[in-house]
Amino acid sequence: MEVLTGKVAWVTGAGSGIGQAAAMALAKEGAAVVLTGRRREPLEETAAAIKRQGGKAVVKPGDLMKAPAVARIVADIDKKFGRCDILVNNAGLNILQRSWKQLSPADAEQVIDGNLTSAFYCTTAVLPLMRRHKDGVLIHTSSMAGRQPSLLSGPAYSAAKHGVVAMSHTLNMEECVNGIRSCVVCPGEVATPILDKRPVPVTKEERGRMAQSEDVGDLIRYIACLPPHIVINEVMINPTWNRGYVANLQRGKA
Ligand SMILES: NC(=O)c1ccc[n+]([C@@H]2O[C@H](COP(=O)([O-])OP(=O)(O)OC[C@H]3O[C@@H](n4cnc5c(N)ncnc54)[C@H](OP(=O)(O)O)[C@@H]3O)[C@@H](O)[C@H]2O)c1
Repeated sequence: MEVLTGKVAWVTGAGSGIGQAAAMALAKEGAAVVLTGRRREPLEETAAAIKRQGGKAVVKPGDLMKAPAVARIVADIDKKFGRCDILVNNAGLNILQRSWKQLSPADAEQVIDGNLTSAFYCTTAVLPLMRRHKDGVLIHTSSMAGRQPSLLSGPAYSAAKHGVVAMSHTLNMEECVNGIRSCVVCPGEVATPILDKRPVPVTKEERGRMAQSEDVGDLIRYIACLPPHIVINEVMINPTWNRGYVANLQRGKA
């Protein structure tokens, strides 16, 4: 029997990148995986890949920036499975026009809602199910920009991801007595479709040196499989060839 047999994992942003890799890794460990994103088609592709590897997956599309959509998905999970043991709170986005010079109120709202408000909606919706079983793991994808503000990622994204870090720590402060554990994952650059929204395009060669979706997916799987008496509160994961460090080294040489 695999470690997560009998467990239900809800993975947001599961149609691509880190979420897709995490969903596949959790399914391999035996979890039944619920897949959410706005577009149905990529979720169906993830579900098909999970089923090919012998796993269980259910597709539940929805826009997580809308509280009623989140409530509907969690009600469906509760009705079908009667539990939600793992939340991979991973959906997120960024915009092309991200500097203060360019930032419009609508864009700021989209980035904050798409990375922070949506994460709050998913968390508040699953907590009652987890409390019911006095058990649960929440794994949130923040960013290195959630630890160190970054102009490359932009002010709205940096602020939202800092919020995700704070959200995760407060969960442990309050929910530890209910057997609920929260881990915030802060990745550096990962070669996923989100990079297509970078103002300065990222080459194929640069993407090849970055962390890959499977690297972060495997880390998420590891966190989800930890025994219930411990929590990894926060973890950073970066490519060894860290472009920020390399740029600093090159500046030092000049
Ligand atoms: N790649 C990196 O370098 C990096 C670094 C640090 C942190 N992160 C974070 O990692 C997480 C995963 O991103 P990724 O890199 O794997 O990029 P990605 O492939 O673009 O994945 C983001 C996923 O989130 C979904 N999504 C976005 N907004 C949504 C919404 N409102 N409702 C439901 N689903 C939504 C998208 O699907 P739909 O478009 O179909 O909704 C997409 O599948 C994000 O939180 C991102 O900020 C990424």
